[in-house]
Amino acid sequence: MKRILHTDPGPASRAGATSTAQRWLGIAAGLVLVLGASLVIAADSSPVTSLASPNAAGINAAGINAAEIDDLGQVADFSLPSAGSDRTLKQVSMGASDRADFTVLCFLGTECPLAKVYGPRLQSLADQLATSGVAFIGVNSNIQDSVDEIRQYAADHGVSFPIAKDHDRLVALDVMATRTPEVVVVDRIGRVQYRGRIDDQYQPGIARSEATVHDLRDAIQALVDGHDVATPRTTAVGCLISLPKPTGRQEQVDAPVTYCDQISRVLNQHCVECHREGEIGPFALDDYDEVLGWGDMSIEVIDQGRMPPWHAADGHAELANARLMPESDKQLLRQWVDAGMPYGDVADLPEPTSYVVGWQLPREPDLVLAMSKVPFEIPASDTVEYQYYVVDTGFETDRWVQAAEVIPGNRSAVHHSIAFVRPPDGADLSQIGLLSAYVPGQRRSPLPVGYAQRIPAGSRIVFQMHYTPTGKPESDITKIGLVFADADSVTHEVISMGGIEQEFEIPPHASDYVVEGRIHGFPRSGELLSIMPHMHLRGKSYQFRSESDDATETLLDVPHYDFNWQHNYELSKPLPLADVSRLSFAATFDNSKANPFNPDPQEYVTWGDQTWQEMAVTFISVAIPLKHTSDSAPTPSDPSTKQAAQQRKESQQRKDEAFAKADKFVESYFQRFDHNSDGFIVEEELPHSVRIFSFGQFDHDRDRRISRDEIRTEAAQRFD
Ligand code: HEC
Repeated sequence: MKRILHTDPGPASRAGATSTAQRWLGIAAGLVLVLGASLVIAADSSPVTSLASPNAAGINAAGINAAEIDDLGQVADFSLPSAGSDRTLKQVSMGASDRADFTVLCFLGTECPLAKVYGPRLQSLADQLATSGVAFIGVNSNIQDSVDEIRQYAADHGVSFPIAKDHDRLVALDVMATRTPEVVVVDRIGRVQYRGRIDDQYQPGIARSEATVHDLRDAIQALVDGHDVATPRTTAVGCLISLPKPTGRQEQVDAPVTYCDQISRVLNQHCVECHREGEIGPFALDDYDEVLGWGDMSIEVIDQGRMPPWHAADGHAELANARLMPESDKQLLRQWVDAGMPYGDVADLPEPTSYVVGWQLPREPDLVLAMSKVPFEIPASDTVEYQYYVVDTGFETDRWVQAAEVIPGNRSAVHHSIAFVRPPDGADLSQIGLLSAYVPGQRRSPLPVGYAQRIPAGSRIVFQMHYTPTGKPESDITKIGLVFADADSVTHEVISMGGIEQEFEIPPHASDYVVEGRIHGFPRSGELLSIMPHMHLRGKSYQFRSESDDATETLLDVPHYDFNWQHNYELSKPLPLADVSRLSFAATFDNSKANPFNPDPQEYVTWGDQTWQEMAVTFISVAIPLKHTSDSAPTPSDPSTKQAAQQRKESQQRKDEAFAKADKFVESYFQRFDHNSDGFIVEEELPHSVRIFSFGQFDHDRDRRISRDEIRTEAAQRFD
């Protein structure tokens, strides 16, 4: 992936990050597609527009009985108000006299992520088939979607076939459609010839890179050619249409479980954080009219363990930011949906929650740095390469940061943004300088009092920006806000470190390939604060362990890793590292066909920052206690001083050994590859595989040749 670097105009500004920063930026670049499908800003949740009773009387109840003709059923005629983009079309009808050879009824919803993805695909199929006697009719049977919202959906997704508002959900009931999107293909005499999904790209919560079976297209092709449909029935994937009639706002004020009383509170606690206007959930769950339409679907995603999104197993280190929903709350929700979702007594509603708008920091930031004065212009479509902005902090002394927040200027186009500290040369290379990040759905808890990150004097801040085009041109200026701590009040320095294991090759079809890695050189005097695993699409499960002389403990177990949710797992109690001899992790990959995310089970998979390559990485943050100069100086007999001296000695020894090994490695590398013995290795001297995987890592200064020093630094870190 080509990276674009924007530097501030400061005189010392230099294109290209320092070696370690570069490497970590590369890894962070692997956070491609984080929450790929999730950047859906909740649509305006205006209440359902109540239409004057539509001419839905066209529904012929007898049509349901006529389903006897074959087991796929028969569709009754209907005539419904049009809600799609064509404002002049008042009614959408399907009747015996005006049926096309084949009609595709497309059940759609305005907020369901999959119904959005498939809108344009259905339109392009409709365009291709326009001259083959195939008509497309959209049907919206969602109680929560208003006519205006449906028009907006049609405009946003380029859907120009008519969309009918199935106000009483009679068409959905008649043809037994249960989800959006779901398609039903009907012939000229009203018989159903195909029902189900459009293609096989998606399973609940899971997306393949592309479809391998095009059920709808194949079915229509067969029918147009005069054949039977090979697979006339498939299972639709998407959001459930809430079919049973809800009891409504006026009724059952005294039902045992009501929206006003318990359910609004349950949703506030577990869902509304993301499911409200302007947040990342695709619809709001803080409004009764909206919740009505999502009741059944909410039960489904909760039962499947997909919502609220959380991936750590219980029974290991206690996690501060766990999103756990107790069984009793799930039970309340089920009971309420079964009872027809009664509204209850408005007096029972909780006080509206007030959300902080703007900075989530403990107080107004002391300093706000923008990535640039000039906005970045995001094109309407096409992939945008990672953008890097380097900003001078202007700090003349070290500064302590107790809280930092990255806020995107344009949430619909910023996929994620990570701010790194790039210290002036000579800074400790073992740290990765992660300062803060904006990743949808992630909230970092505040640091404990007295804990802070240090930004060394002369540092720059690097913004790594990943933009996703939204379909229309956008622009963005992302900013970071910093809240400083007084140097005297800081008791612990918080640093970010990483463990990488790059030496692996996952064989084709391997379903349980384990890569073991560890965190090198972590400070024994420190305490572990958080753990963030990072793998790509073949990531299957993950464990993080701490080992001491007499015990090994699994601190974190992620049994079903999900690339779409990059959680940073924060320990409730910081873990002292004094007695820990080893911090290690096991990243398990599934390169088999059974992994629905797998882009290609035939491949040998090695390290790389593209999602079709893999990474076995762990980011951790560690707090190290500071000794203030004002503290009474410990005497040499103080055991802690002795211990520290011993530790320093051991660490120096380790470093020396690492460098000795690295020197050997450098010599053998040059012997093998420096064919013209000029003391530099250029790309052409390397075999293809080595060129792809190691040239970029070693060529730190990006001058397109590798020096002995560059390999030595890199190798010493790996041997440490
Ligand atoms: C951390 C943020 C977050 C929380 C908390 C959360 N959701 Fe979601 N939810 C999302 C996002 C993002 C999506 C869209 C996923 C996508 O685009 O595929 C989503 C999608 C959904 C969907 C659509 C179904 C689907 O397959 O995509 C339902 C239903 C849903 N959430 C219900 C809930 C309920 C109920 C809760 C609370 C119990 C909840 N969510 C909590 C972020 C969240």
